[in-house]
Amino acid sequence: MEYKAIFNKLWEGYINDNPHAKKIYDLFEADGESVINDHIAFRTFNDTRINIDILAKVFIANGFKEQNTYRFENKHLFAKHFEHKSDALAPRVFISEIILEDFSFEFQQIIKSEIDKIDTAKLNTDELIYAGNIWSKPSFGIYEKLKQESEYAAWLYVFGFRANHFTVSVNHLKKYDSIEKVNSFLKNHDFLINSVEGEIKGSPAELLEQSSIKSGIISVEFIEGNFEIPSCYYEFAKRYKDTDGKLYSGFIAKSADKIFESTDYYKRQLITKIPI
Ligand code: NI
Repeated sequence: MEYKAIFNKLWEGYINDNPHAKKIYDLFEADGESVINDHIAFRTFNDTRINIDILAKVFIANGFKEQNTYRFENKHLFAKHFEHKSDALAPRVFISEIILEDFSFEFQQIIKSEIDKIDTAKLNTDELIYAGNIWSKPSFGIYEKLKQESEYAAWLYVFGFRANHFTVSVNHLKKYDSIEKVNSFLKNHDFLINSVEGEIKGSPAELLEQSSIKSGIISVEFIEGNFEIPSCYYEFAKRYKDTDGKLYSGFIAKSADKIFESTDYYKRQLITKIPI
C-alpha cells in the first residue's frame, strides 16, 4: 500500500469517531487554509506481541525509517518516531508504548489477560494499525481501575490501535501562522485547549511549539452499559529552523509528556457548547 493510502485510511477512521476534529479541519479549510498533517501518533503496550516495533512494521514496509527515541519517566512510556526516507512532506509517525513492568501486579495481570485474548492471526497483518480494540468489549470497571494508575493505559484499553491524534502543521497555515493565533481561533469556536502547564508546550528556542484540544467526549459501549469518556484529540505544531537553517523534525519529551494528558478523563459539561 502506498503510504498516502495508509494515512487516508487512518484519517477516515479518526474523523468518523471524532467529528470534533473534522469540524476543526473544516473550519480551517473554509477559511482558505490547506491543512497539512505534521504527525500522527499511536499508543500501545510494551508486550512483545504488540509493541512499538510490531505497529511500526507497516510503516517500515512503506518507506519509513526509525528516526529517534524518547523516554517519559513520569508516565512510564517509551516512544520512537519514524520518518519517510524520501518524501519530506510525509507526516511523521510517533509510536509510544507503556512500560508494563513499572505498574502494579494487578495492572499487569489485567493487561496481559487482555492481550492473551487477541486472535493471533490479527497480529501480523497490515490492518493492525486500524484495528482498534482487538482484545474485548471493555469493562467500565476495568477502565476506572486502570485509570487510577495510568490515564494512558485506560484510554488504550478502550480504544486500542488507531490514530490517537492527527496534527495540523502550523508552518503550512497562511493566516494562522502562530500557535497563539491557532489557539485563539479554537477558543473562538468553543474548543477546550489542553492547558496543563500552559496552553503552548515548547518554545522557539526548543525549535518546536505545540498545543492540542482536549479529547472530544463520546459515548462508548462497555459491558456495564454506555458511558461517555474522552476519545481522540487534534494537535497543532509549529517547527523552527536550527542554527544550520534546517527545520527541526523531532519531538520534545517534556512537551509531549503534557500533550499525552489531552485524553485524560473529564466530564462533558465542560464543553456543552461543542455540537458533537
Ligand atoms: Ni503529537
